[in-house]
Amino acid sequence: MQVTMTVNGESVSRDVEPRLLLVHFLRDHLALTGTHWGCDTSNCGTCVVQIDGRPVKSCTVLAVMAGGHEVRTVEGLEQGTTLDPLQQGFMECHGLQCGFCTPGMLMTARALLDENPDPSEDEIREAISGQICRCTGYTTIVRSVQWAARHAGDAADTEGAVR
Ligand code: FES
Ligand code: FES
Repeated sequence: MQVTMTVNGESVSRDVEPRLLLVHFLRDHLALTGTHWGCDTSNCGTCVVQIDGRPVKSCTVLAVMAGGHEVRTVEGLEQGTTLDPLQQGFMECHGLQCGFCTPGMLMTARALLDENPDPSEDEIREAISGQICRCTGYTTIVRSVQWAARHAGDAADTEGAVR
């Protein structure tokens, strides 16, 4: 069946099987492989994208359910050559090691900061509580989100230099 949605600001339309999950639609039909697929059991959170600004595990949503909605993936964070403060924060505070969980962490944290620009540590930890990182132990992820909250108005180019 035909599904049409907006992904990172662009309208996309594809013929898909009704059973196709959104995570596979993004990765296999649109080649947006920044959204990772880690468990298939709704546990790891690495597949989180935003639908109409809300963080959603894309392995729990059928692609056709996203029809007519605005989907934002990790590829949509960077604006031109300007990194999102969260991307910069993860670089500054070593918020990743292998990076497998990072796309989901970034999209959840972006939704949090859009709703609450100055979250407490507890609020950050609660926001990312549905996501698993096997590398960092979460402390540096929390610090990265705090860094982004403090630098919300800053712009950084893709070389990572804050301007
Ligand atoms: S792949 Fe979606 S929660 Fe793990
Ligand atoms: S950085 Fe490796 S799983 Fe989080």
